[in-house]
Amino acid sequence: MKEHHDIHKVESFVMGCLTEYDSGHDWWHIVRVRNTALKIMKSEKTGSRMLIEVASLLHDIGDSKFRKDDGRKSEDLLKGFLESSGYDDNFISEVLFINKNISFSGGKRPENPSKEFMIVQDADRLDAIGAIGLARAFNYGGFVNNMIYDPAGGPSTIRHFDDKLLKLKDLMNTETGAIMAADRHTVLVKFLEQFYNEWEIVKEKL
Ligand code: ADP
Ligand code: NI
Repeated sequence: MKEHHDIHKVESFVMGCLTEYDSGHDWWHIVRVRNTALKIMKSEKTGSRMLIEVASLLHDIGDSKFRKDDGRKSEDLLKGFLESSGYDDNFISEVLFINKNISFSGGKRPENPSKEFMIVQDADRLDAIGAIGLARAFNYGGFVNNMIYDPAGGPSTIRHFDDKLLKLKDLMNTETGAIMAADRHTVLVKFLEQFYNEWEIVKEKL
């Protein structure tokens, strides 16, 4: 394992990579995921701090929603950065694994995920629910100009709640993550209830 590593160098690398992302994937998303992951690590008393911190910072590099290449270019970029920073091969493959597999959704799960993978994935998922997750969903929906809601059932940000966000609380890997998710989940449920109540105006005969 590397004796001294420069977290500021990793932070600067990430900041330089986020320019094409929507503002729900800005530097502050990265900071929230890093800090949430460290909080889960402390509560679960497991995982390597260095791996969790570096993997959190780098988790969205090459996200398929924003990149224009086929993914190989950003993986090479990330790998090159880690190699030039002097991390050892084992550490590098752990970071690349987390980066590549973190977005696995719909119950699909990589085989033998590391504890660090599970912690960083929980932190990323937590940022997609609760008040912040709600804000991010509409922010992303606006970024790609999706409908807020389509009563005919077509794609919309409200449908994204059913498709994904409401499922996240049952997909958490860690106990700490599950407790945090339960609290944030209720924010989504309350919001949707109010949203559909307000939508009733559309059906009124006036
Ligand atoms: P991350 O990129 O952080 O790993 P995701 O790729 O799942 O996580 O999505 C990031 C954010 O964008 C989340 O807050 C998610 O709700 C939002 N998002 C993704 N797809 C949609 C969509 N179709 N409609 C609205 N929000 C979306
Ligand atoms: Ni993310």
